[in-house]
Amino acid sequence: MAVAEFMDYVEKHQNDFVERLRKAVAIPSVSGDPNHRPDVFRMGEFLVNELKALGASVETRDLGKQDFHGTQTLDLPPIVLATIGNDPTKKTILVYGHYDVQPALKEDGWATDPFVLVEDDKQRLIGRGSSDDKGPVLGWINVVEAHKNLGLELPVNIKFCLEGMEESGSEGLDELIYQEADKYFKDVDAVTISDNYWLGTTKPCLTYGLRGVSYFHLTIKGPAADLHSGVFGGTIHEPMSDLFAVMSKLVSPNGKILVPGVYDQVRAMTAEEEATYESLDFSLDDLHGAVGNKTNIHSDVKSVLQHRWRYPSLSLHGIEGAFYNPGDKTVIPSKVIGKFSIRSVPDMDPKKLTELVEKYVTDEFNKLGSKNTMIIKCSHDGNHWLASPNHPNYVAAAKAVETVYKVKPDLTREGGSIPVTLSFQDALKKNVLLLPMGRGDDGAHSINEKLDRSNYIQGTKLLGVYLHEVAKVEL
Ligand code: BES
Ligand code: ZN
Repeated sequence: MAVAEFMDYVEKHQNDFVERLRKAVAIPSVSGDPNHRPDVFRMGEFLVNELKALGASVETRDLGKQDFHGTQTLDLPPIVLATIGNDPTKKTILVYGHYDVQPALKEDGWATDPFVLVEDDKQRLIGRGSSDDKGPVLGWINVVEAHKNLGLELPVNIKFCLEGMEESGSEGLDELIYQEADKYFKDVDAVTISDNYWLGTTKPCLTYGLRGVSYFHLTIKGPAADLHSGVFGGTIHEPMSDLFAVMSKLVSPNGKILVPGVYDQVRAMTAEEEATYESLDFSLDDLHGAVGNKTNIHSDVKSVLQHRWRYPSLSLHGIEGAFYNPGDKTVIPSKVIGKFSIRSVPDMDPKKLTELVEKYVTDEFNKLGSKNTMIIKCSHDGNHWLASPNHPNYVAAAKAVETVYKVKPDLTREGGSIPVTLSFQDALKKNVLLLPMGRGDDGAHSINEKLDRSNYIQGTKLLGVYLHEVAKVEL
């Protein structure tokens, strides 16, 4: 009865929830851009105010300063800790989410202003952070509001942990989780995170695995300043040429990592695991739709998913210091920094991975015989995570999916990373569930990121019904 009333409320108040999302998207809380750091703080305050208005007891934790790649010192945005209910007879569910977003510029190719929420004719809510992760974070807040306005008791105590640096490596959060394990997080019975996506576009899923990520900066320093290529070209070792030579040795065009030893750490496939790739709601069409064309390396669905979920990958991201404007400039950049990252999987160890990368890159650079200097550094690493989808927390979530969507969810893993997931599991020794709201084609980190109105509204119902279901199971 309470659940039906709640779902009905969400359905009827969907426009209010969309307005809440509109306000959130309007705050460009880009954690990776120092110019937007004040906006990340504003977004934290927005959530504090929303939560306080709903009667939560809210505190913020200051994480100190960030050394922004040696160029400046920035204040780290606060962790928002909010508690709703402290009834010892109820379970306590910890909800984690992030309020920072990836960078977005209209000139990247967005059809609309990325920080103005626009609903298109397909009822898609378009804007940076709509799906990653403002929509889902607000989904939880919508759930609390619906209960409050209906005068319905929440079936569990909720503890929020919301951060503003997830897209930039969650600096400082691990320490806080371990420090607060016996304090703020003491009574937590299970952890739920809504910060990933359905596999395709039609069927909900529950997610029990993530890849880790190790991010590297490869710096090559040459002349004391940028030089004229007409005057100095052919007479000095050029940093860009060295960088290209080394970066071209990292990964093959068909995605094979060339750093020796990496694949030795990858867990062998069992028949049991192989079976988990059967009958999932995912097709090559879904892949093509999400990619926008047919540039896939693997042509069978299982292989695509295995390379997304259970094999490592290495991506080249960019070169800082290189000439990148339109037009021609005959410059020899004096210092360039190549950026690349490796997604890691069971049983890879991030520390060992960094050692392998450092050794290989150093050897490859030395082979060039260049007089330039090279520095290779891991800027952040986060471990992979794998949980059991048979845990009662997942059983409760599956029931909620059936109530809201009338289908059984797929059980999936993800190729992306949320490094604190493992920290919660290890520090609190509790089950962690990923309960996604958005679809596989939402375009997180890409242009025209969107969250379908139906996913936002049904997703809000899902999060609420899940709380009612998890209240009933033995955790
Ligand atoms: N929401 C994503 C995590 C994600 C991505 C889950 C793709 C499933 C599929 C999250 O906000 C994110 O992008 N995380 C970063 C973490 C990194 C900066 C440490 C990522 O995966 O690149
Ligand atoms: Zn996210």
